[in-house]
Amino acid sequence: MSFLKTLKISAALVALSAGGALANDVEVLHWWTSGGEAAALNVLKGDLETQSIGWQDMPVAGGGGEQAMTVLRARVTAGNAPTAVQMLGFDIQDWAAEGALANLNDVAAAEGWDAVVPAALQRFSKYDGAWVAAPVNVHSTNWVWANKAVLDANGIAVPETWDDFVAAVEKLAAAGVTPIAHGGQAWQDATIFDAVVMSTGGPDFYKAAFIDLDPAALGSETMKEAFDRMSFIRANVDSNFSGRDWNLATAMVINGEAGFQMMGDWAKGEFLNAGKVPGQDFLCFRFPGTQDQVTFNSDQFAMFDQGGVVSAEQAALATAIMSPSFQSAFNVVKGSVPARTDVPNDAFDDCGKKGMADLAAASASGNLFGSMAHGHANPASVKNAIYDVVTAHFNGEYDSETAVQELVTAVEIAQ
Ligand code: GAL
Repeated sequence: MSFLKTLKISAALVALSAGGALANDVEVLHWWTSGGEAAALNVLKGDLETQSIGWQDMPVAGGGGEQAMTVLRARVTAGNAPTAVQMLGFDIQDWAAEGALANLNDVAAAEGWDAVVPAALQRFSKYDGAWVAAPVNVHSTNWVWANKAVLDANGIAVPETWDDFVAAVEKLAAAGVTPIAHGGQAWQDATIFDAVVMSTGGPDFYKAAFIDLDPAALGSETMKEAFDRMSFIRANVDSNFSGRDWNLATAMVINGEAGFQMMGDWAKGEFLNAGKVPGQDFLCFRFPGTQDQVTFNSDQFAMFDQGGVVSAEQAALATAIMSPSFQSAFNVVKGSVPARTDVPNDAFDDCGKKGMADLAAASASGNLFGSMAHGHANPASVKNAIYDVVTAHFNGEYDSETAVQELVTAVEIAQ
């Protein structure tokens, strides 16, 4: 650790322990604007307030963070990078490769991050041996959220297989209930596709297609079958799905207007924010046929280099994010699970406990994979190419046969 860096971090810690305010606010760019997300963000803001760390909010609405990343690019191009930015997977690596991110190694070493952050996350938090981001959570995309009363009223048990799911959906449709709540935005279509591909082809197929980008997998009969399953889902959403925000789709399940939503566990934040109780009002279960797998994404905060050294505010923010008690308090509200392996599950509800157990089991059995839809399988160029094909197919522009061919071509061009 250089003398100057040591001095800066120590100065920050002295200021904090003396209860003094840091000179500058941290400006945080993020996309947590739904009710549940804002509630979780308030846990972070509140935590920082108690430490006299000022917060300048820079929210950019848009689930999945595409719009936030566009705003970020404009800010950096204008020479006005925010202090800290919510970021996913390969985007962190891309910004680090550009030399834009501050090196957090001193804070990480002082606090022993190496020993408590799982390797699957470190793969994104570190670039060229340097910690460049602090992971705040682990989400996963292969979940289904259901309204319990709606399922009970229609005699539907939790579907275990794709065929069970088809039968459940058909029962709801016959009863005049919207079976699936969905928002027609590319990232939401892709979020469903993560789970459908995993369920249709299994973990080796998911890896071959989305991690290794093997043209044989992308162009296979199995992939065609996955697209056919997407067509079934498309046929069972309501007619107003186009462009709907994900949290409004969650609200349809919360209000009993729809039976299921396939969405990452940030959806749980909406149920909790509406005062709903897991197991009583709503059910959480893995997408049928993916019970042993986890397709994950992790929200991390990358600190933009403000002139060579990590600022006192950035160091303090990173420390706050990585504190075990904060990771528990935050993730209980957010719907995600801690990014550290040493956080107890006591404070978590049943869905959170299941999320933690599933993550540990999938990691141990080699069934933990980065989410294609949320930037943990490929860089943005490839992700966006896949989005385009999945969305065009979902909206009826391509049949499944054409979609498979387009997928192979689009992925090849994007690399
Ligand atoms: C994900 C992010 C989650 C959640 C979701 C919807 O990409 O990891 O934290 O915010 O988008 O906005």
